[in-house]
Order: sequence, then structure tokens, then C-alpha cells
Amino acid sequence: MLKSPNFTTFQPAGSDIDGFPVVERRLSQLDKVFAEPDAFAKTLVAQENPRVYTVSSVAPAEGDGQLHYGLGKIMPGKVGQEYFMTRGHYHEWREAAEIYIGLSGTGYMLLETENSDDGQLIPLIPNSIVYVPGFTAHRTINTGHAPLTYLGIYPANAGHDYGSLAQSNFRHVVVEENGAPTLLRRTDYLAQLKAKNEVATP
Ligand SMILES: [Fe+2]
Repeated sequence: MLKSPNFTTFQPAGSDIDGFPVVERRLSQLDKVFAEPDAFAKTLVAQENPRVYTVSSVAPAEGDGQLHYGLGKIMPGKVGQEYFMTRGHYHEWREAAEIYIGLSGTGYMLLETENSDDGQLIPLIPNSIVYVPGFTAHRTINTGHAPLTYLGIYPANAGHDYGSLAQSNFRHVVVEENGAPTLLRRTDYLAQLKAKNEVATP
């Protein structure tokens, strides 16, 4: 079969675009991504530094007007009340939008912009398409019990800016509350945890 960056194949529940490298993110590489340091440390030991997600990317061409794309796969799992998720990023070229196409599993995308306090939680499921506008930080979250796989298609010049979120993180968290994924402000969630810990250790 023809193999070139202009024609690729993949399995809907697989980890790679056939013949292209897979980048793996294990939990130890996601320090400070999750809200609860204790839960992070416990999960790291109990699950022996689990694989959280993989990305297999294809760059068929470079330059203005070209596109890159990648197959993402997030494993099912949780760190405390938070679900396994990607680190998330802005695009270096802030104007750059992106299309996500859900392939398998059940999850969400968390979207935030730099100039608003809003957080949007948008389903990412098979046969769904999420449009991530420019100027928007985006993180993908697996809230199901099977791997979540999806395709992301973005301008070749978009670039990935992880640094802007490295200190402050997203302003919202997605946590399991009463068995359902729930969007909360990070500050509210951290206050809840603090109150719980104070009750537990008077
Ligand atoms: Fe992106």
C-alpha cells in the first residue's frame, strides 16, 4: 500500500498513525498538571507511573497554509477526583484554530481563553467534531472506562505553547462528583479539598 505523509492509515482505537512515531506521556511527566499533589504521588506509586496518553503526529508539509495532524489516545484512569487528561496548550500562533474529531471512547475538551474567566466543557465522543477557535487553551480529558482516541488537525505554523499554562494551569478543573464529570473553578475545588482535609485532620 502507498505510504507517504499524503496518505496515512490508522486504527480507530490504536495509538499510532501507521508508520509514524508515537510520543508517550507517563504520569511522572505530568507533574503539576493535576490539582492534588497527594493523589498524584499516590497514583504514581500505586500504578507504577502509568502511561496517561500518547500522540502520533504527521507533518506532511511546512509553511503558511499547510496542515499538520495527530492521533491522540488517553488511557482511562484518575488522579484523585480528576480524570486522566492531556497537559493542554495554547498555540504559539494564538490565531491558530484546530479541529478535533472523536474516534472512540468518551471524553471532553476543556476550553479557556486568556481574556475571559469562562471555561467550556465540550463532549468529545465518536462521530463528533469540536472546533477549537484561535486564542483558546485546550485540554482533552478521558471521562470513560475505555481509551479515548481522537484526531486533531491544525495549521502547520500553530506551534505548541505549554509554558503559559505551566505555572497557573487551567482556571477550571474537571472532577468526578456524584459519579459525573463536573466543571469547577480551580480555586473553588482547592478550597473544597482544604476544607475536607481540615475536617479529616482536626
Ligand atoms: Fe492544539
